[in-house]
Amino acid sequence: MIDLIQKYVEAYGPSAYEDAIRAMIIADAKQYTADVTTDALGNVIARVAGKKGGQRVMLIAHMDEIGVMVSHIDANGFCRLMRIGGVNPQTLIGNRVQFTNGVMGVIGVDNPGKRSLPSYDDLFIDVGASSKADCPVGLGDVAGFVRPFLQLNENRLVAKSMDDRIGCVVLLETLKALKNPANEVIFVWSVQEEVGTRGAGPAAYHTEPDIVIAVDVTATSDTPKGFKMDVDLGKGPAIKVRDGGMLADPRLVRLMRDQAVAASLPYQMEILPFGTTDARATQVTRGGIPSGCLSIPCRYIHTPSEMVDLRDVQNGVKLLTKVVSEAATLK
Ligand code: CO
Ligand code: ZN
Repeated sequence: MIDLIQKYVEAYGPSAYEDAIRAMIIADAKQYTADVTTDALGNVIARVAGKKGGQRVMLIAHMDEIGVMVSHIDANGFCRLMRIGGVNPQTLIGNRVQFTNGVMGVIGVDNPGKRSLPSYDDLFIDVGASSKADCPVGLGDVAGFVRPFLQLNENRLVAKSMDDRIGCVVLLETLKALKNPANEVIFVWSVQEEVGTRGAGPAAYHTEPDIVIAVDVTATSDTPKGFKMDVDLGKGPAIKVRDGGMLADPRLVRLMRDQAVAASLPYQMEILPFGTTDARATQVTRGGIPSGCLSIPCRYIHTPSEMVDLRDVQNGVKLLTKVVSEAATLK
């Protein structure tokens, strides 16, 4: 699984520019099901048939990542930027970016001697140009962050885009593990989550699932003065109860919890005071679709070094495989 994680987290794919990661996912998903399609927005949808009387369960993880866009180029070829998704400016100084056309750049800041936190207006990308005329990128060009995958030890994995390529891996591994599931399972690798869960609603509207489980990352409490919550790295995947955008369907929370207990899998309960996931969008699609989320605990979210624990990923795959393979009627 480590090779797959490395391949996905190093792939390029800011919101709406997911082509490279999408091509990888399509090729990989086709190894396990013939039914792989792409919708009008670019969501990848793979289906596995279920048994008669089963539910239609959607698993969804977003393949886009945060990034930046060029908003202005000055006479000396320095590019001003706008963010794509929740990019924190304090992570940007000295960071490296890669544009869709392959051009690389580094991020600098105005008044470099000043010690206060920068705002976006203070930051620029230096692509090595010396004038606007020789700048190899243009207005509206998009860039993602560059950072190689890092395995710190047996279980601690670090990357620029664990959010949410690790969810993309969990979906693929679940697809791989499925054998004659009781439910029809629809796997969606969605676009544009980071700019407001924009891919998920159309995907759920179109495929009409009975239940949706998003797979995304959540914050942790286990760093010095970390978030006030009860999620730690390595203690199991987290079953979302609520986040800043939704209350997970209580019946689905119960189903996931019961299945974790039945399989003796470690799990944690996620009560996150901010943020949200694709499940928020699917919950309010059509006449409403019961939705929840299984979260992979992740330190340093939306920084170039997002950290997860491999055991949480493996246990997440086991739990999801059980949940979608067995009777999933909500009660
Ligand atoms: Co995110
Ligand atoms: Zn995410």
